[in-house]
Amino acid sequence: MTTNTRRNTCLVATTPGAPLGVNVVGYSYYLPDEVITNADLARTVDTSDEWILARTGIRSRHRAAKEQATSDLAIAAARPALERANITPAQLDTILIATATPDSPVPAVSCVVQAGLGAAGAAAMDVGAGCSGFLFALHTAACFVRAGAAHRVLVIGAETLTRVTDYGDRRSCILFGDGAGAAVVTSPEAGAECTIPRSSDGLELIYSALGTDGLMADLIKIPAGGSRNPASEATIRDRQHYLRLDGQAVFRQAVRRMAEAAGEALEATGLTPSDIDWILPHQANARIVVAVAEQTGIPPERAMLDMAETGNTSAASIPITLGRARESGQLAAGQLILMLAFGAGLTWACQIWRVRE
Ligand code: UT7
Repeated sequence: MTTNTRRNTCLVATTPGAPLGVNVVGYSYYLPDEVITNADLARTVDTSDEWILARTGIRSRHRAAKEQATSDLAIAAARPALERANITPAQLDTILIATATPDSPVPAVSCVVQAGLGAAGAAAMDVGAGCSGFLFALHTAACFVRAGAAHRVLVIGAETLTRVTDYGDRRSCILFGDGAGAAVVTSPEAGAECTIPRSSDGLELIYSALGTDGLMADLIKIPAGGSRNPASEATIRDRQHYLRLDGQAVFRQAVRRMAEAAGEALEATGLTPSDIDWILPHQANARIVVAVAEQTGIPPERAMLDMAETGNTSAASIPITLGRARESGQLAAGQLILMLAFGAGLTWACQIWRVRE
C-alpha cells in the first residue's frame, strides 16, 4: 500500500521507509572515447581552465564520435547492465529511455534501441524530462512494476548533448558532455532469472517523487526545430537549434528545488539527514551539489561529485555517477542513497534507494 497526499506524483510506503517492491538488479554506463578538455574550449571561446574548474568543478567531458548517435551510447550502456542483471534482451517487457537528444524526432529512440538490442518482446517509449529524465523514467518503471503491468524494465538515460551545444557560447559550452547509463528494474516476481550476480548491484526503492514547473520553461530550451518554430534557414542562421540556458536563474532554481524535494522525501519517509549515506544529485555544477547537501543538512563529503571528467550529461548523469560510484568501491550493502534530479521544464525528482545485502 502507498499513499500520496502531495501535489506531485509520489510513491512512498504507508510504513515509512519500507521498500516499495521495486528493485534495480543491474546497472552500468558508457562514455565515448573522445575527451574535450577545458584547455580545448579555451582555444575557441574566451574562457580558461581556472574559471571553468572554479565555477563548475568540470575539467573535461566526453564527446560521441561522428558516427555515434544517442542510441549507440544507450545500447553500449544497456548491454553490461543486462549482463550484470543476468537478464537477456529477449526477457525484457519494457524499455524506457530518457533523453533530450534522440537520434531523430521520429521514431522514439527507444524503438531504435529495442531493435539494436534484439528485445523483440518489449514495448518501448521515450521519456522527456530534461536532465531529470532518468529519475522520471525510473519512477515510471516503478509504477509499471507496482501495477503488475511490467516485470523486467530497462531504463536508460542517454544524451549526445554536444550535438546541441553552441561552441560559440562560453556560458553554456563549458558544461555539457555525452554519455549514457542504464538500469534494469524488476518486480520481486520477475523470476528466477533475476538473481543478483554481484554484490552492490542490487538496489531497492524506498521513495520516489517527481515535480514540474512549466511556468519556468524558458530558462532552459532549444528554441527551434519543433512545431512552434520549425527548422528554416533563418532559425539555423540565428543558432536557434542549440541549447540556451539562463545560467544564474537555473542555478538558483536547481538548489532550491532539489533541497525542497530532499526535505519532502525525508519528511515522508521519517528518515533524518544522518540516515542518508550518499546524496547523488544531477551532476550539473559542483557548487550546486554542495549547496543542496548543505541545505538538506547532509555533510557535503557525503555528496557524490562526479562531473570533473564527465561534465553535465543531462539525463545520463545520475546513472553514470551511480556506475562510477560502484566501480570506485563507494557503495556498501545497507546504505541509503538519496538521488536528486533537476532540469529543463523545469523538472525535478527525488528518490531514495537502499543498497541490497
Ligand atoms: O542541467 C540542467 C541544469 N543546468 C544547470 O544547473 C546550470 C546552472 N548554472 C551554472 O552552472 C552556472 O550559472 C554557470 C556555470 C553556467 C555560470 O556560472 P556563474 O557563476 O553563474 O557565472 P555568471 O553567469 O554569473 O557569469 C559571471 C561572469 C560574467 O562576467 P561579468 O558579466 O561579471 O563580467 C560572465 O560573462 O563570468 C563570465 N563568464 C565566463 N567567464 C569565463 C561566463 N561564462 C564564462 C566562461 N569563462 N566560460
